[in-house]
Amino acid sequence: MKTISDLGDLRGKRVLVRSDLNVPLDGATITDDGRIRASLPTLRRLTEAGARVLVTAHLGRPKGEPDPAFSLAPVAARLSELLGGPVAFATDTVGPEAQRVAAELSDGQIAVLENVRFNAGETSKDDAERGAFADQLAALADMFVSDGFGVVHRKQASVYDVATRLPAAVGDLVQAEVEVLRRLTESPERPYVVVLGGSKVSDKLGVIDNLIEKADSLLIGGGMVFTFLAAQGHGVGSSLLEADQIDVARGYIERAAAAGVDLLLPTDVVVAPAFAADAPATVVAADAIPDDQMGLDIGPDSAAVFAEYVRGAKTVFWNGPMGVFEFEAFAGGTRAVAEALTRTDGLSVVGGGDSAAAVRQLGFADDQFGHISTGGGASLEYLEGKTLPGLAVLEEQSR
Ligand code: 3PG
Repeated sequence: MKTISDLGDLRGKRVLVRSDLNVPLDGATITDDGRIRASLPTLRRLTEAGARVLVTAHLGRPKGEPDPAFSLAPVAARLSELLGGPVAFATDTVGPEAQRVAAELSDGQIAVLENVRFNAGETSKDDAERGAFADQLAALADMFVSDGFGVVHRKQASVYDVATRLPAAVGDLVQAEVEVLRRLTESPERPYVVVLGGSKVSDKLGVIDNLIEKADSLLIGGGMVFTFLAAQGHGVGSSLLEADQIDVARGYIERAAAAGVDLLLPTDVVVAPAFAADAPATVVAADAIPDDQMGLDIGPDSAAVFAEYVRGAKTVFWNGPMGVFEFEAFAGGTRAVAEALTRTDGLSVVGGGDSAAAVRQLGFADDQFGHISTGGGASLEYLEGKTLPGLAVLEEQSR
């Protein structure tokens, strides 16, 4: 793939950068600015080289038309704070405001365009509709830099189509992400431990499928535990259960055993009668969950065992919280795994928007981990071995 260095002299050039600035918001307050911070190195590099930088990005999933609840204005303001300089904001994406802002940029200046998903063409499944929108985006700039790792698995106008319309290069963030993920898939240093959490088995099928024989140990936490416990014939009370995935979970247990891979499930769980921060929590054996209780975290014994595996690993990939970490009473498992990742002397990778937000919310700093991926779906699809359209198009253009 072509990199920014391959684009030549950038002074005075208009460079359209696709960043992933899809951050969690509470009203207009950004609750985790990790993705904005991660986008800074490429943006700084381009402005320092004298480029006129136009950032295009999405926030949430608006329905292809302007919706103030999904405006990127608060994100542009935060970007300006982090860069320590002015950041212009265009109140449309490719319309008169965007054109005016693009025309007024001087060398080394930066502007953010309004949410690219306010335009139906961005996410359209129709190639012509998407292409027509990509033409409008491309008309704003001389070059394109793809730096939104969190969206490279999307075949969308600002990720995919625009790269065929302008000289295109991969940004530093996407490059760094791909390098780390490659280390997880091509000859990882062993022991290689994969920790998967989150609520649904059905979200993790591809990644379990692809890693079950590559990893030395697969540790399962989060809501999907209960589908695995049901597959072993245990009652799970009122815990989350994907009844249609029980056979799939059983299949994974059998495959892991046949491949000599440790598939670890928690042996104890923290249960409560209701999904609430103040619900009374008790610890029970994983095979003895009372009918009127639901499991909301892995138990302390399991957390200690998981932590020991993680600490002893030379490569660890972790995606998905171990429990309802947003409620303190059910955050112990997630905290223990995060803490263990900070203590391993191997490569520790936190994948996914939710997992990244979890570690920050629990008070860990980014630099305590080997790598925190900015991509949730994107990093999982990479590890599933899928072709990611936003990367494939850059490879194609580099030929
Ligand atoms: C993410 O949050 O994982 C990325 O920003 C992609 O967002 P999307 O799932 O709405 O395409």
